[in-house]
Amino acid sequence: MTTDPRDHAIAALLSEERSYPPPEDFAAGANAQADLYERSFEELWETEGRERVTWFEPFTELYEWEPPYAKWYLGGRLNVCFNCVDRHVESGNGDKVAYHWEGEPVGEREAITFAGLQERVVRFANGLKKLGVGKGTPVGIYMGMIPELPVAMLACARLGAPHTVVFGGFSADALAGRLNDMGCEVLITQDEGWRKGANVPLKANADEALARCPGVRHAVVARRTGEGPALREGRDVAWDELAGGESADPATCPCEPMDSEDLLYLLYTSGTTAKPKGIAHTTAGYLVGTATTHHYIFDVKPDSIYWCAADIGWVTGHSYIVYGPLCNGTTSVLYEGTPDFPDRDRWWEIVERYRVDVLYTAPTAIRAHMKWGTEHAAKHDLSSLRLLGSVGEPINPEAWMWYRENIGGGRTPVVDTWWQTETGMILISPLPGVTTVKPGSATQPFPGIDAAVVDERGEEVPNGQGGYLVLRKPWPAMLRGLYKEHDRYVDTYWSRFPGLYFTGDGAKRDEDGDFWLMGRVDDVMNVSGHRISTIEVESALVDHPAVAEAAVCGRKDDLTGEAIVAFVTLKGSEEASVEMLDTLREHVAQKIGKIARPANIVFTPELPKTRSGKIMRRLLRDVSEHRTLGDTTTLADPSVVEEIRDRAEDEKAKAV
Ligand code: WTA
Repeated sequence: MTTDPRDHAIAALLSEERSYPPPEDFAAGANAQADLYERSFEELWETEGRERVTWFEPFTELYEWEPPYAKWYLGGRLNVCFNCVDRHVESGNGDKVAYHWEGEPVGEREAITFAGLQERVVRFANGLKKLGVGKGTPVGIYMGMIPELPVAMLACARLGAPHTVVFGGFSADALAGRLNDMGCEVLITQDEGWRKGANVPLKANADEALARCPGVRHAVVARRTGEGPALREGRDVAWDELAGGESADPATCPCEPMDSEDLLYLLYTSGTTAKPKGIAHTTAGYLVGTATTHHYIFDVKPDSIYWCAADIGWVTGHSYIVYGPLCNGTTSVLYEGTPDFPDRDRWWEIVERYRVDVLYTAPTAIRAHMKWGTEHAAKHDLSSLRLLGSVGEPINPEAWMWYRENIGGGRTPVVDTWWQTETGMILISPLPGVTTVKPGSATQPFPGIDAAVVDERGEEVPNGQGGYLVLRKPWPAMLRGLYKEHDRYVDTYWSRFPGLYFTGDGAKRDEDGDFWLMGRVDDVMNVSGHRISTIEVESALVDHPAVAEAAVCGRKDDLTGEAIVAFVTLKGSEEASVEMLDTLREHVAQKIGKIARPANIVFTPELPKTRSGKIMRRLLRDVSEHRTLGDTTTLADPSVVEEIRDRAEDEKAKAV
């Protein structure tokens, strides 16, 4: 017997019978044609490696695979910033727009050309050199979606300084943890950000974090609102002061020739323990992988106006706002704010103004637009759109259809792209001019990618049967391990099925062999497309002095995919109250960030545990989704669950 709602969801998905072959004219002109699938793994990555990027010294060996570590394009030397910026200027495309930046406050706009980008990157990189940043210096970046963010990343890449970008919605605690883990010496931040008309206190959070980061010598502060805390003498320097007087001549700051396997960045992501994992991405394989997939999957043309409406603080922004599109010389939209500021048609106004032809976003955003109604999109001319993309979580067929009909005018292909922070690049996705798409399916592995669905023993299951999604061959942008955590790398990805990379996701293939993703099978939740581990939230709760014990699980949510539910046992003398509930939610926001705040908290005298003391999260999920309970025989005290259920029902009644 199964009580996992995802099984029911997938059964429903698999009975989905709608399918859409590529429109003929789209297929005829598509970057990817069917023969791409015929290229061998070696041939494909060899050709893309030679042709898609510019090398200072060509590579001599395609790859080396010593499980669980891969190396790609061995012997090559190149620079990511050179590929994303300088070479486009050198080839005469300096006047082409790299980013149409759109601030959240209405009317703030800027078109940044590749030449303009180069000037800003060179000036800033020259400034960073003065702070002692050079090849190998770890740099933290904590910013909102302003042009200085990609400029900061590219300046680091130019100097060979690995960066870690920390999403601007994370708390001071989360920031401090990441800066210390990587050993960052410099932090780049901004005074404040704009979000939904309110100010985000980035510098104030950074100040709080830096009080706990003795290794960070300097903070560079970009100006956005002109408000925020004063600069700290000796430690802080204003961006304009640092870079303003520097030369913008690229010859004054040549691109550092990097080895193919030199570290480009770390990006921290949630795993199944409280401590985030530092996912390591290196130079050549990452660049080739992101640029190649960007070219074929998004079918970008020289005159495309492409918009990935993600935040650069997540991997989607790293790969598909910064590195992939810039490497391909693509014009992108970069938008600072939320989709509903000042009105719910903000996105559609942007699409209309810039004549966006490719739009890439997440199911949670699509569902929000669905909820707001079709009238907002209907006010605008969206006829420029040729292609739509989705990423971050399974997309329900209803949202997929809404997206295609109301945004894509019923004519655009929709590509549902599956990948992870760890994979660096899209691995499962339709090719829009080749693949027949189905609402809810990510369809086929990208050419050269070997994905499979296996059972507990690691054996491939027949089509129609659910199992675990694994990868059987390396790919260029795959992670090169977890920063300083070899054992955890092996445990997390390589121990469950020896020789296979375990994604942590469940999947099924239908009778055509198309992939349908079923969500995480581990203790990682997916809230609005953001990964948050149950243990991380539990640790934050238990950190509060009133809390004795906490268990956290995700429950299905129509808007955010999953919502966080916490079951909390308070210490003897503490009172369960609405104030306590608010206090604890706020405490989690403080420790991790607002995205991790539980939607519900159920106070309970005890948590359901197995006899060995393990919290039974699956049971809690049953309770929070108000389903019949699963098997409780391994419970130490089965009555606990009944009690919790009663309380959860009470909570629900209160909420209504
Ligand atoms: C989920 C985001 C279904 C999945 C790029 C994965 C998806 C996790 C899809 C990675 C999709 C991402 N369909 N599920 N198209 N895309 N996921 O690291 O569970 O933030 O393992 O990377 O998101 O999330 P991450």
